[in-house]
Amino acid sequence: MPNYSELVQKLSSQLEIYDAQEATSLVNWLLEHHLGLRRVDMMHFLEEKDLPEKLFEDLDRLKAGEPIQYVLGKAPFYGREFLVNSSTLIPRNETEELVHLILKENKSSGLKILDIGTGTGCIPISLALELDHAEVYGLDISEEALEVAQKNAKLLHASVNFMKCDILEEHPPVEDLDILVSNPPYIPEKGKSEMHRNVLDFEPGLALFVPDQDPLLFYRVIAEKGKKLLKPGGKLYFEIHEEFGNEVTSLLGKLGYSEVRLLKDLNEKDRIVVGKWEAGS
Ligand SMILES: C[S@@+](CC[C@H](N)C(=O)[O-])C[C@H]1O[C@@H](n2cnc3c(N)ncnc32)[C@H](O)[C@@H]1O
Repeated sequence: MPNYSELVQKLSSQLEIYDAQEATSLVNWLLEHHLGLRRVDMMHFLEEKDLPEKLFEDLDRLKAGEPIQYVLGKAPFYGREFLVNSSTLIPRNETEELVHLILKENKSSGLKILDIGTGTGCIPISLALELDHAEVYGLDISEEALEVAQKNAKLLHASVNFMKCDILEEHPPVEDLDILVSNPPYIPEKGKSEMHRNVLDFEPGLALFVPDQDPLLFYRVIAEKGKKLLKPGGKLYFEIHEEFGNEVTSLLGKLGYSEVRLLKDLNEKDRIVVGKWEAGS
Protein backbone atom coordinates (compact mmCIF):
# COMPACT_ATOMS: atom_id res chain seq x y z
CA MET A 1 0.00 0.00 0.00
CA PRO A 2 1.54 3.37 -0.94
CA ASN A 3 1.97 5.69 1.97
CA TYR A 4 0.66 9.22 1.99
CA SER A 5 3.75 10.89 0.66
CA GLU A 6 4.09 8.34 -2.17
CA LEU A 7 0.52 9.09 -3.18
CA VAL A 8 1.14 12.84 -3.08
CA GLN A 9 4.29 12.31 -5.10
CA LYS A 10 2.39 10.26 -7.70
CA LEU A 11 -0.39 12.81 -8.10
CA SER A 12 1.86 15.86 -8.05
CA SER A 13 4.17 14.41 -10.70
CA GLN A 14 1.21 14.86 -13.09
CA LEU A 15 1.25 18.63 -12.55
CA GLU A 16 4.20 19.14 -14.84
CA ILE A 17 3.54 22.85 -15.36
CA TYR A 18 4.41 23.57 -11.72
CA ASP A 19 7.71 23.09 -9.94
CA ALA A 20 7.86 20.12 -7.57
CA GLN A 21 7.28 22.05 -4.36
CA GLU A 22 4.32 23.97 -5.75
CA ALA A 23 2.79 20.80 -7.23
CA THR A 24 3.05 19.05 -3.85
CA SER A 25 1.34 21.85 -2.04
CA LEU A 26 -1.47 21.99 -4.64
CA VAL A 27 -2.10 18.27 -4.25
CA ASN A 28 -2.12 18.60 -0.46
CA TRP A 29 -4.62 21.43 -0.84
CA LEU A 30 -6.89 19.23 -3.03
CA LEU A 31 -6.70 16.29 -0.66
CA GLU A 32 -7.52 18.48 2.29
CA HIS A 33 -10.47 20.02 0.44
CA HIS A 34 -11.97 16.77 -0.79
CA LEU A 35 -11.38 14.61 2.25
CA GLY A 36 -11.96 17.24 4.88
CA LEU A 37 -8.83 16.05 6.61
CA ARG A 38 -5.67 17.72 7.65
CA ARG A 39 -2.37 16.46 6.32
CA VAL A 40 -1.41 14.97 9.64
CA ASP A 41 -4.63 12.88 9.69
CA MET A 42 -3.87 11.38 6.31
CA MET A 43 -0.40 10.10 6.97
CA HIS A 44 -1.12 6.40 7.25
CA PHE A 45 -4.24 5.33 5.47
CA LEU A 46 -4.59 6.89 2.10
CA GLU A 47 -4.82 4.90 -1.13
CA GLU A 48 -5.60 6.13 -4.61
CA LYS A 49 -8.74 3.97 -4.82
CA ASP A 50 -10.14 5.80 -1.77
CA LEU A 51 -10.03 9.16 -3.48
CA PRO A 52 -13.24 10.69 -4.90
CA GLU A 53 -13.69 11.06 -8.66
CA LYS A 54 -14.08 14.84 -8.22
CA LEU A 55 -10.51 15.06 -6.98
CA PHE A 56 -9.24 13.64 -10.25
CA GLU A 57 -11.43 16.07 -12.21
CA ASP A 58 -9.91 18.92 -10.21
CA LEU A 59 -6.43 17.54 -10.84
CA ASP A 60 -7.16 17.69 -14.58
CA ARG A 61 -8.16 21.35 -14.25
CA LEU A 62 -4.89 22.07 -12.43
CA LYS A 63 -2.98 20.27 -15.18
CA ALA A 64 -4.60 22.63 -17.69
CA GLY A 65 -3.20 25.58 -15.74
CA GLU A 66 -6.35 26.72 -13.94
CA PRO A 67 -5.51 28.38 -10.62
CA ILE A 68 -6.46 26.22 -7.63
CA GLN A 69 -8.61 29.03 -6.21
CA TYR A 70 -10.94 28.79 -9.24
CA VAL A 71 -10.87 24.99 -9.11
CA LEU A 72 -11.98 25.01 -5.48
CA GLY A 73 -14.12 28.16 -5.85
CA LYS A 74 -12.55 29.91 -2.88
CA ALA A 75 -9.52 31.91 -1.82
CA PRO A 76 -8.16 33.08 1.52
CA PHE A 77 -8.00 36.83 2.21
CA TYR A 78 -7.12 38.58 5.45
CA GLY A 79 -7.95 35.54 7.58
CA ARG A 80 -11.23 34.67 5.90
CA GLU A 81 -12.33 32.57 2.94
CA PHE A 82 -13.91 34.29 -0.07
CA LEU A 83 -15.87 32.72 -2.92
CA VAL A 84 -14.22 33.34 -6.29
CA ASN A 85 -15.19 32.50 -9.86
CA SER A 86 -14.09 33.32 -13.39
CA SER A 87 -15.74 36.77 -13.14
CA THR A 88 -13.62 37.84 -10.18
CA LEU A 89 -9.95 38.43 -9.67
CA ILE A 90 -8.31 36.08 -7.17
CA PRO A 91 -7.51 38.33 -4.18
CA ARG A 92 -3.76 38.94 -3.86
CA ASN A 93 -1.42 39.22 -0.88
CA GLU A 94 -0.56 42.80 -1.88
CA THR A 95 -4.23 43.72 -1.43
CA GLU A 96 -4.17 42.24 2.07
CA GLU A 97 -1.33 44.67 2.75
CA LEU A 98 -3.53 47.53 1.51
CA VAL A 99 -6.35 46.48 3.86
CA HIS A 100 -3.86 46.13 6.71
CA LEU A 101 -2.54 49.65 6.14
CA ILE A 102 -6.05 51.15 6.08
CA LEU A 103 -6.90 49.39 9.34
CA LYS A 104 -3.64 50.50 10.97
CA GLU A 105 -4.17 54.15 10.02
CA ASN A 106 -7.93 54.47 10.58
CA LYS A 107 -9.25 53.28 13.88
CA SER A 108 -12.25 55.58 14.50
CA SER A 109 -15.77 54.30 14.76
CA GLY A 110 -18.40 55.06 12.08
CA LEU A 111 -16.07 55.64 9.08
CA LYS A 112 -17.72 55.96 5.68
CA ILE A 113 -15.84 54.00 3.02
CA LEU A 114 -16.16 53.25 -0.72
CA ASP A 115 -14.20 50.58 -2.62
CA ILE A 116 -14.06 51.03 -6.39
CA GLY A 117 -13.68 47.86 -8.52
CA THR A 118 -14.64 45.53 -5.72
CA GLY A 119 -14.42 42.07 -7.41
CA THR A 120 -15.06 39.46 -4.71
CA GLY A 121 -15.72 42.29 -2.23
CA CYS A 122 -12.62 41.25 -0.30
CA ILE A 123 -11.62 44.85 0.55
CA PRO A 124 -14.94 46.32 1.76
CA ILE A 125 -16.04 43.10 3.50
CA SER A 126 -12.74 42.87 5.41
CA LEU A 127 -12.95 46.55 6.38
CA ALA A 128 -16.60 46.26 7.43
CA LEU A 129 -15.79 43.27 9.63
CA GLU A 130 -12.65 44.72 11.20
CA LEU A 131 -13.82 48.30 11.83
CA ASP A 132 -16.31 49.49 14.39
CA HIS A 133 -19.67 50.52 12.88
CA ALA A 134 -18.24 51.48 9.50
CA GLU A 135 -20.64 52.40 6.67
CA VAL A 136 -19.15 50.57 3.73
CA TYR A 137 -19.89 50.63 -0.02
CA GLY A 138 -18.41 48.65 -2.90
CA LEU A 139 -18.94 49.10 -6.62
CA ASP A 140 -18.04 47.26 -9.79
CA ILE A 141 -18.95 47.38 -13.46
CA SER A 142 -19.40 43.60 -13.54
CA GLU A 143 -22.77 42.25 -12.43
CA GLU A 144 -21.29 38.76 -12.15
CA ALA A 145 -18.58 39.99 -9.80
CA LEU A 146 -21.16 41.88 -7.74
CA GLU A 147 -23.17 38.66 -7.33
CA VAL A 148 -20.09 36.97 -5.88
CA ALA A 149 -19.41 39.96 -3.62
CA GLN A 150 -23.01 39.88 -2.30
CA LYS A 151 -22.71 36.16 -1.56
CA ASN A 152 -19.43 36.72 0.27
CA ALA A 153 -20.93 39.49 2.39
CA LYS A 154 -23.84 37.23 3.32
CA LEU A 155 -21.67 34.22 4.13
CA LEU A 156 -19.29 36.31 6.23
CA HIS A 157 -22.07 38.33 7.91
CA ALA A 158 -20.71 41.67 6.72
CA SER A 159 -22.87 44.69 6.06
CA VAL A 160 -21.71 46.22 2.75
CA ASN A 161 -23.78 48.13 0.18
CA PHE A 162 -22.82 46.94 -3.29
CA MET A 163 -23.75 48.79 -6.45
CA LYS A 164 -23.21 48.49 -10.17
CA CYS A 165 -21.36 51.48 -11.55
CA ASP A 166 -18.98 52.14 -14.42
CA ILE A 167 -16.53 54.48 -12.72
CA LEU A 168 -15.23 55.73 -16.07
CA GLU A 169 -18.71 56.95 -17.06
CA GLU A 170 -20.73 57.53 -13.89
CA HIS A 171 -20.43 59.33 -10.56
CA PRO A 172 -21.09 57.00 -7.61
CA PRO A 173 -24.12 58.07 -5.53
CA VAL A 174 -22.24 58.58 -2.24
CA GLU A 175 -20.59 61.57 -0.56
CA ASP A 176 -18.73 62.64 2.57
CA LEU A 177 -16.42 59.64 2.50
CA ASP A 178 -13.68 59.22 5.07
CA ILE A 179 -11.91 56.68 2.87
CA LEU A 180 -11.91 55.99 -0.85
CA VAL A 181 -10.01 52.83 -1.78
CA SER A 182 -9.34 51.15 -5.08
CA ASN A 183 -7.31 48.36 -6.60
CA PRO A 184 -8.32 49.12 -10.20
CA PRO A 185 -7.24 47.35 -13.39
CA TYR A 186 -3.61 48.42 -13.84
CA ILE A 187 -1.69 46.12 -16.18
CA PRO A 188 -0.90 47.64 -19.59
CA GLU A 189 -2.07 45.38 -22.44
CA LYS A 190 1.52 45.01 -23.62
CA GLY A 191 2.35 43.27 -20.32
CA LYS A 192 0.27 40.27 -21.44
CA SER A 193 3.23 38.60 -23.12
CA GLU A 194 5.13 38.39 -19.82
CA MET A 195 2.25 36.99 -17.80
CA HIS A 196 1.71 33.41 -16.64
CA ARG A 197 -0.78 31.38 -18.62
CA ASN A 198 -2.79 30.66 -15.49
CA VAL A 199 -3.47 34.37 -15.02
CA LEU A 200 -3.99 35.19 -18.69
CA ASP A 201 -6.24 32.26 -19.59
CA PHE A 202 -8.39 32.25 -16.48
CA GLU A 203 -8.59 35.63 -14.72
CA PRO A 204 -11.03 38.21 -16.15
CA GLY A 205 -9.36 40.68 -18.52
CA LEU A 206 -11.79 43.34 -17.29
CA ALA A 207 -10.16 43.15 -13.87
CA LEU A 208 -6.59 43.32 -15.10
CA PHE A 209 -5.89 45.41 -18.16
CA VAL A 210 -5.71 49.06 -19.15
CA PRO A 211 -4.88 50.51 -22.57
CA ASP A 212 -1.11 50.84 -23.22
CA GLN A 213 -1.51 54.49 -24.17
CA ASP A 214 -3.24 55.40 -20.87
CA PRO A 215 -2.10 53.15 -17.99
CA LEU A 216 -3.15 55.71 -15.36
CA LEU A 217 -6.71 55.94 -16.70
CA PHE A 218 -8.44 54.58 -13.59
CA TYR A 219 -6.18 56.48 -11.16
CA ARG A 220 -6.86 59.79 -12.89
CA VAL A 221 -10.64 59.30 -13.08
CA ILE A 222 -10.96 57.97 -9.51
CA ALA A 223 -8.72 60.66 -8.00
CA GLU A 224 -10.64 63.35 -9.92
CA LYS A 225 -14.01 61.96 -8.73
CA GLY A 226 -12.53 61.51 -5.26
CA LYS A 227 -12.45 65.29 -4.82
CA LYS A 228 -16.25 65.27 -4.72
CA LEU A 229 -16.65 61.92 -2.99
CA LEU A 230 -14.29 62.54 -0.05
CA LYS A 231 -15.06 64.78 2.89
CA PRO A 232 -12.41 67.38 3.85
CA GLY A 233 -9.55 65.43 5.42
CA GLY A 234 -10.72 62.19 3.77
CA LYS A 235 -8.10 59.77 2.42
CA LEU A 236 -7.57 58.05 -0.90
CA TYR A 237 -5.82 54.65 -0.91
CA PHE A 238 -4.66 53.13 -4.20
CA GLU A 239 -3.04 49.79 -4.98
CA ILE A 240 -0.73 50.42 -7.93
CA HIS A 241 1.40 48.71 -10.55
CA GLU A 242 4.98 48.61 -9.27
CA GLU A 243 6.20 50.59 -12.30
CA PHE A 244 3.85 53.54 -11.83
CA GLY A 245 4.64 54.65 -8.27
CA ASN A 246 6.11 58.00 -9.21
CA GLU A 247 3.48 58.74 -11.85
CA VAL A 248 0.54 58.05 -9.51
CA THR A 249 2.22 60.02 -6.71
CA SER A 250 2.72 63.05 -8.92
CA LEU A 251 -0.79 62.70 -10.38
CA LEU A 252 -2.29 63.00 -6.88
CA GLY A 253 -0.06 65.99 -6.13
CA LYS A 254 -1.15 67.73 -9.34
CA LEU A 255 -4.81 67.09 -8.56
CA GLY A 256 -4.41 68.85 -5.21
CA TYR A 257 -4.11 65.93 -2.78
CA SER A 258 -1.79 66.56 0.17
CA GLU A 259 0.46 64.32 2.31
CA VAL A 260 0.92 62.00 -0.70
CA ARG A 261 2.89 58.86 0.19
CA LEU A 262 4.28 55.99 -1.89
CA LEU A 263 4.66 52.71 0.04
CA LYS A 264 6.35 49.42 -0.81
CA ASP A 265 4.91 45.91 -0.39
CA LEU A 266 6.60 43.04 1.44
CA ASN A 267 8.55 42.24 -1.73
CA GLU A 268 10.01 45.76 -1.69
CA LYS A 269 7.99 46.82 -4.76
CA ASP A 270 6.17 50.15 -4.98
CA ARG A 271 2.58 49.11 -4.32
CA ILE A 272 0.41 51.64 -2.46
CA VAL A 273 -0.17 55.37 -2.91
CA VAL A 274 -2.08 57.37 -0.29
CA GLY A 275 -3.28 60.97 -0.46
CA LYS A 276 -5.42 63.27 1.65
CA TRP A 277 -8.12 65.56 0.30
CA GLU A 278 -8.40 68.93 2.06
CA ALA A 279 -11.32 71.20 1.27
CA GLY A 280 -10.47 73.98 -1.17
CA SER A 281 -7.17 72.36 -2.26
C1 LIG B 1 -7.86 44.47 -10.08
S1 LIG B 1 -9.55 44.02 -9.88
C2 LIG B 1 -9.72 44.26 -8.11
C3 LIG B 1 -10.72 43.34 -7.46
C4 LIG B 1 -10.72 43.41 -5.93
N1 LIG B 1 -10.92 44.74 -5.44
C5 LIG B 1 -9.41 42.87 -5.39
O1 LIG B 1 -8.59 43.66 -4.92
O2 LIG B 1 -9.20 41.65 -5.41
C6 LIG B 1 -10.38 45.42 -10.60
C7 LIG B 1 -11.92 45.39 -10.56
O3 LIG B 1 -12.40 46.57 -11.25
C8 LIG B 1 -13.57 46.24 -11.97
N2 LIG B 1 -13.73 47.22 -13.05
C9 LIG B 1 -13.14 47.23 -14.28
N3 LIG B 1 -13.54 48.30 -14.99
C10 LIG B 1 -14.40 49.00 -14.18
C11 LIG B 1 -15.15 50.19 -14.36
N4 LIG B 1 -15.09 50.89 -15.50
N5 LIG B 1 -15.94 50.62 -13.33
C12 LIG B 1 -16.00 49.91 -12.18
N6 LIG B 1 -15.31 48.77 -11.96
C13 LIG B 1 -14.51 48.32 -12.94
C14 LIG B 1 -13.33 44.82 -12.46
O4 LIG B 1 -14.56 44.17 -12.77
C15 LIG B 1 -12.58 44.21 -11.26
O5 LIG B 1 -13.50 43.59 -10.37
